Amino acid sequence: MIVDCPASCPFVGATSESLRFPPGQLHHVAAPGPGGGTEVDETKRNVLKLLAVAGVVAAGGGGLAGGALQFAQPPAVGLSSYPKVPLVDLDGSPLTMAKALAEYSYLTPDVITFNYPLRNEPNFLLNLAPPPGKSGGPSSVKGGIGPKSSVVAFSAICQHLGCPAPNLAYYPPGTCSGTPGGKQLYLHCACHGSTYDPADGASNLTGPAILPLPQVTLEWNQTDDTISAVGVVGPPVNGHLDTLQGDYPVGSTSQLSKQSPIILCQFPSG
Ligand code: FES
Repeated sequence: MIVDCPASCPFVGATSESLRFPPGQLHHVAAPGPGGGTEVDETKRNVLKLLAVAGVVAAGGGGLAGGALQFAQPPAVGLSSYPKVPLVDLDGSPLTMAKALAEYSYLTPDVITFNYPLRNEPNFLLNLAPPPGKSGGPSSVKGGIGPKSSVVAFSAICQHLGCPAPNLAYYPPGTCSGTPGGKQLYLHCACHGSTYDPADGASNLTGPAILPLPQVTLEWNQTDDTISAVGVVGPPVNGHLDTLQGDYPVGSTSQLSKQSPIILCQFPSG
């Protein structure tokens, strides 16, 4: 079953996405940079700059051209290992477990994300426990942290062709009449309908994606109650050969942001 992209999908207008972006092909999906920029392909831009410099040098003296071309390699942009990055709540204060449990639950419809480990790698923050004083939610959450083992984080970039949140969004129970894979709650991509199970490590429920979403390893400091991102497990973030490579590090902290989800109740078969 083919699901048409909604107007918000980055690939809207494509009649056949599988032809334009075959599975496995890299393409750049960038979050806005600190300066407010949009999509920037740093590698391509740097290579063009260096080739231009090499050309000027070659025109002035052939002996220097070879030396200049030695540096016509794109600079490595990224990290060599996963940093520990404390999360910051929407209000600018440190995200504590107490706040995460009070502010978010498996019924929260908002798209809550933070970037990690690179600036263009958004991730969902989810608390799949019920709101305070209520019941419900999944009986267990794979990889969850906190007193209820319910707080998890996953890449917010779809593993099919890279649609990011809010096209990829968490659907609380009752959002659609369908239940992909029989699941009451799930992550759904409005671009082509892939779904993932957030209670099972974001395993893939329905295609066209076949891989799980990468899961961010979270750490709960029970002394000061803060929550930090400390790693990523699973496949590389879509659009990156390596989750650690492809943009600049997010910085010493990473603040949550909130968006409204894009809801589309169409589920291709798994
Ligand atoms: S990008 Fe195709 S299903 Fe998400």
